[in-house]
Amino acid sequence: MKVDFVVLAAGKGKRMGQGDLPKVLLPLAGRPIAQHLLDTVSSMKESAVRMVVGYKASQVRSSLKVKRNTKWATQKNQLGTAHAVKQAVPYLRKGSVAVILYGDVPLVSLKTLKSLIRVTTPKSIGVLTFQTENPKGYGRIIRGDDKNIAAIVEEKDASLAEKAITEVNSGIISVQSSILGPLLDKINNKNAAKEYYLTDIVSVATKEGISAIPLRLDNANELLGANTPLELHNLERIYQESQANKLIEGGVNVADASRIDIRGALMAGKGSFIDINNIFEGDVEIGKAVKIGPNCFIKNSKIMEGAVIKPNTVIEDSIVGPNSKVGPFARIRGGTKLDASSELGNFVEANRSQVGALTKAKHLAYLGDTTTGASVNIGAGTITCNYDGKNKNKTKIEDGVFVGSNTSIVAPITLSEGSYTGAGSVITKNVPKHSLAIGRAKQSNIKRKKN
Ligand code: UD1
Ligand code: CA
Repeated sequence: MKVDFVVLAAGKGKRMGQGDLPKVLLPLAGRPIAQHLLDTVSSMKESAVRMVVGYKASQVRSSLKVKRNTKWATQKNQLGTAHAVKQAVPYLRKGSVAVILYGDVPLVSLKTLKSLIRVTTPKSIGVLTFQTENPKGYGRIIRGDDKNIAAIVEEKDASLAEKAITEVNSGIISVQSSILGPLLDKINNKNAAKEYYLTDIVSVATKEGISAIPLRLDNANELLGANTPLELHNLERIYQESQANKLIEGGVNVADASRIDIRGALMAGKGSFIDINNIFEGDVEIGKAVKIGPNCFIKNSKIMEGAVIKPNTVIEDSIVGPNSKVGPFARIRGGTKLDASSELGNFVEANRSQVGALTKAKHLAYLGDTTTGASVNIGAGTITCNYDGKNKNKTKIEDGVFVGSNTSIVAPITLSEGSYTGAGSVITKNVPKHSLAIGRAKQSNIKRKKN
């Protein structure tokens, strides 16, 4: 079946008080609120998306990632949700079912949308509803004698008795495209807000002999909207906890589902352990049996099987090889790659570098634009001096090199296989194979009189 998703995103979001940024672009788990909807619906076969934009339309268009099946409609003045949908009607495909989504109700699942589509016929429209203890702000569902929906009453227009109703409108409605336009034409703006309410489609349809079938969800979380900062905060926490639960169900040991933040896509292998207060951004892949200590920030990186990331480590755009150890307090970035069983310990920074298998830099070091071979030992306090004020220069440290503590390695330079540097050296010339390089002032012991 052809499905056209109409996403309403023309409003400013006044109640959010977020300044000039359109509400649908505010971040939820690191992605714009409306992006979640787009990502959900674009995975459905034969679907198309019709985005309705208005407030800061060009910013919304350029900030959202859409697929080729998307068309944009503009609502110049925000005259209400029915008026917004009307702008998309010319873009609907013949014979499709239109599913109307609100850009600020972002967590609805494809499964739920599919169930709603199933109740939609030329004689019936589907409305997703949910029960809530706190219905404030939502349209209230008035059921008719036949248990279908007779009307939806907005908060502003509701009587005290209607306000007490706890079944509310999610805003998500499905209608056969062919009847949508004519129904919208019959909606007026005679209400407290003087807006064209999409919710009036229910009473209009009922008069035409088209029933409004409620699909009521028990677990309301996926239907919650984000109108205020607190509502957005709640959505963030709900979303994060659901992601953590998915990891746990997939065999990942998460120390506390309420203390992990995934702002992107995290894949984690079975038997891995994620301690508290970790933040994952972008695409992060964690292999099997990986251990991640508390307070790490990991972005667009891959941590391979059996690796251990100790507390307070930052890893960005990098690959940590199998069984490697990183941290505590390490910073790995800029496309750095650690081969198997390597170790970068406390206060070690590696930037745009390759670290060979079994190579270790366990304390206080900086490796920039550096390639090390296998089984290299980098002593504490070692710095590669890669930047001369103009250019970034490369350091090559070959297999089995032993770099003494507090060595400054001035690039461009090569320390050849099996060579050594003496502690405290400033190395400015290439070091040949198996030689010891010492570049430091000689110690002199000067005799003094006893005091
Ligand atoms: C709406 C529903 C309410 C429902 C609630 C669910 C109406 C009249 N009310 O109320 O019944 O319970 O959602 O979350 O539909 N928009 C436009 N153009 C406009 C007006 C709004 O594109 O002229 C967009 C907004 O950007 C937003 C969405 O439509 O993404 C919903 O509008 P909003 O003002 O948030 O409606 P609610 O008051 O939440
Ligand atoms: Ca809303």
